[in-house]
Amino acid sequence: MITLAAPVITHTAHATSTISSTSATFTTAAITAVEARNFSVFYGYRQAVKEVNIGIKHGEITAIIGPSGCGKSTFLRAINRMNDLIPGCRTGGELLFGGEDVNAKHIDTTDLRRRVGMVFQKPNPFPKSIYDNVAYGPRLREKISKGDLDALVENCLRNADLWEETKDRLHANALSLSGGQAQRLCIARALAAQPEVLLMDEPTSALDPKATAHVEELIVRLRPTLAIAIVTHNMAQAARVSDRTAFFYEGNLVEFGTTPQIFNTPRETRTQDYINGRFG
Ligand SMILES: Nc1ncnc2c1ncn2[C@@H]1O[C@H](COP(=O)(O)OP(=O)(O)OP(=O)(O)O)[C@@H](O)[C@H]1O
Ligand SMILES: [Mg+2]
Repeated sequence: MITLAAPVITHTAHATSTISSTSATFTTAAITAVEARNFSVFYGYRQAVKEVNIGIKHGEITAIIGPSGCGKSTFLRAINRMNDLIPGCRTGGELLFGGEDVNAKHIDTTDLRRRVGMVFQKPNPFPKSIYDNVAYGPRLREKISKGDLDALVENCLRNADLWEETKDRLHANALSLSGGQAQRLCIARALAAQPEVLLMDEPTSALDPKATAHVEELIVRLRPTLAIAIVTHNMAQAARVSDRTAFFYEGNLVEFGTTPQIFNTPRETRTQDYINGRFG
């Protein structure tokens, strides 16, 4: 379901209507966390992502937009090798993370998935307590004292803006949470792995406006510490939260630029038509 909402327009002192970025502090020095170079993904003979070139930077939120079936989820899943689970799926070109190709033979996918966390459209808490959901990854990874684990769980729940709502029922089943709370729990669980990159595939599409606002505030707050890529069908959301926007169409990266540029002065007609809701 595509939400065709009007982008956030602000009126500047120059009396022109522009989209304002929430960060708007672009520095050329921002470090690229993930870089795709002529990167492709195939399902059998069908090419779902076509020679894409893009850099996802630390300290920024990159929005990935485009109509259904254009390869957004496929591209996102490629970054932490989630597509490995799909028979017949293969890649071409390079996809660099920390200077190494994620598809290189020696890459440990468990470690990669710890460093590159993912939050899905549908919140998927484990059928365990709220506490155990967050503690799950750290317990697997290392021997950790009860005190340290308690502190880590609290910290992640605080960072995911869920602590106040759950501190008195940490041992209740996570399946008792509302959709918005469950999604924030999934974010807390992803944060517990201390990722360097957070991939979010339509993280608010199943949430009501209040829960969506909550998650958006959280993403913006996390921005300085991570590289975040968020797939969204909600143009207003992309305009509100992201620093850069990538427009995918039929597997191609049609246009990539700062969010104000993409929304205010798109270079490509297809970008303009899509953000104005003419197709999608
Ligand atoms: N597991 C799969 N096996 C075969 N083809 C797939 C698989 N997953 C996706 N595809 C195909 O790859 C193309 C891109 O799909 P993808 O899910 O990446 O699109 P999307 O942009 O995320 O779409 P949506 O906005 O609907 O989520 C589509 O043509 C889709 O049918
Ligand atoms: Mg998708």
